[in-house]
Amino acid sequence: MAAKFKIQPLSFNSQFAKRVLILSLPLAIVFFAFTHWQLMSISTAVLCFVITVISNVLLLLPISSELRILRNYIYSLANGDTDYSNIVLSEKDTRDLARAITAIHKIWTSKAETLEAQTLSDAAVFDTLPDPILMLDAEGYITNSNLPAQKFLGADFLACNIDKLFSTNIFIASVEKVLKGESISESVVFHAPEYNNRQLYAHITKLPSHLKGRASVVVSLYDVSKALSLEKKQSDFVANASHELRTPLSVISGFIETLQTTARDDADARDAFLAIMKEQTEYMSNLIEDLLSLSRLEMGQDKEIKDKVDLHEVIDDVMQALKLKAFQRSVNVKISELNRIPKIVADNQQIHQIVQNLLDNAIKYAPENSEVTVEIKTIPEIPAKSGQNIASGKAVSIAFNNKGQKINKEDLARLTEKFYRMQVHKDMKIKGTGLGLAIAKQIILHHRGNLTVSSTVYNGTTFTIYLPVKQN
Ligand SMILES: Nc1ncnc2c1ncn2[C@@H]1O[C@H](COP(=O)(O)OP(=O)(O)OP(=O)(O)O)[C@@H](O)[C@H]1O
Ligand SMILES: [Mg+2]
Repeated sequence: MAAKFKIQPLSFNSQFAKRVLILSLPLAIVFFAFTHWQLMSISTAVLCFVITVISNVLLLLPISSELRILRNYIYSLANGDTDYSNIVLSEKDTRDLARAITAIHKIWTSKAETLEAQTLSDAAVFDTLPDPILMLDAEGYITNSNLPAQKFLGADFLACNIDKLFSTNIFIASVEKVLKGESISESVVFHAPEYNNRQLYAHITKLPSHLKGRASVVVSLYDVSKALSLEKKQSDFVANASHELRTPLSVISGFIETLQTTARDDADARDAFLAIMKEQTEYMSNLIEDLLSLSRLEMGQDKEIKDKVDLHEVIDDVMQALKLKAFQRSVNVKISELNRIPKIVADNQQIHQIVQNLLDNAIKYAPENSEVTVEIKTIPEIPAKSGQNIASGKAVSIAFNNKGQKINKEDLARLTEKFYRMQVHKDMKIKGTGLGLAIAKQIILHHRGNLTVSSTVYNGTTFTIYLPVKQN
């Protein structure tokens, strides 16, 4: 806290002495003239001069001293001391001056506080924007950025030139165009190999020239990788679905044409063709059923999960449905329950569908005359990798194992993609749409469970589903 400013004790300095002498000089000349014309004795003149000097000192000293107090007061305000009662002055003029200085200081302090609060709130708003924003000066150097930009660009990039951070020509050319004033704003989608190969949409805008700040151009970046990959997945899906439907349709229409022309009266050919046509229509109806299932699942992810599902009943029902298929392939299905399985909170129909798809696969892809095992048990927690949205707490796992060739890593990673089928099974003419596992995965995600798959030479392939006992 600064000390109160009071009138200082008498203090002479060269400036003060000069002022006193200058002020006393005219009377000194008058006294000198009076003694010269013998109107006054020398001793009286000296006495008068001394009295003049003393009265000038007494007149000037308080003003000079108060000016010094005022100067110190202004410095203390400049140094951030806002105690306005710090100043004590005796002269009216200097008091008025101090009041005026205090008033100006109060106005500017309040303006500065408003400006600071505004700047802080602007910076906070800037940081809460979800996408990276960069400010560039007229040469392309970064002058400011928000938090998402700092997270996105990683290292310390402030004061870096934009062309050191991004190498993609199309983006740098657009930034240069705006910096040079050839365009007011530019938008560009580009690929950023230095940032995890992301696809970015950049909007580059020139700031109005009347703004006097250092920033000249604002660059906003949006990560559009997910949206573009989703778009690609959707168009791939439509292409795949129409291809899968067109193939059996063209087979059927080919046979219809043959039956209408060359094979019109050939009874044997007609029977054979009708059998194939029946098979193709069954395939088409399965495919349409699967496609509808998938779209229903994708649309109804917010459907409430509230059934109490008895997994014994589900497995029994599915076994009944697949008994004939297992028998035809001489596959023996062995079910083992390792401990008492509680009912789980789930969607009954959807759980039937997953168990059906996985047991159907195990029977379909197992070698003939082999064994398929289904092992069901309770576990304390669902195993999960970080970032997966999986329910915590007690769960049930069902592992479906079938013998057969080991599935390589690349295939394993792609099995749950829509329409993905392993070449070896296509070559073996094993029927399927390639949608069963995609449907199972959707259902499991909806239940916040998990699906894992492993494959070894000796043990064959094991798909394991994990479902939480309760949905919390
Ligand atoms: N238990 C398994 N053993 C070996 N390969 C499997 C197994 N389950 C699935 N696959 C492979 O994964 C692919 C995808 O399986 P998915 O169940 O999604 O489709 P699908 O069985 O071909 O057709 P759908 O189930 O729709 O009739 C299969 O084509 C097959 O190549
Ligand atoms: Mg299948």
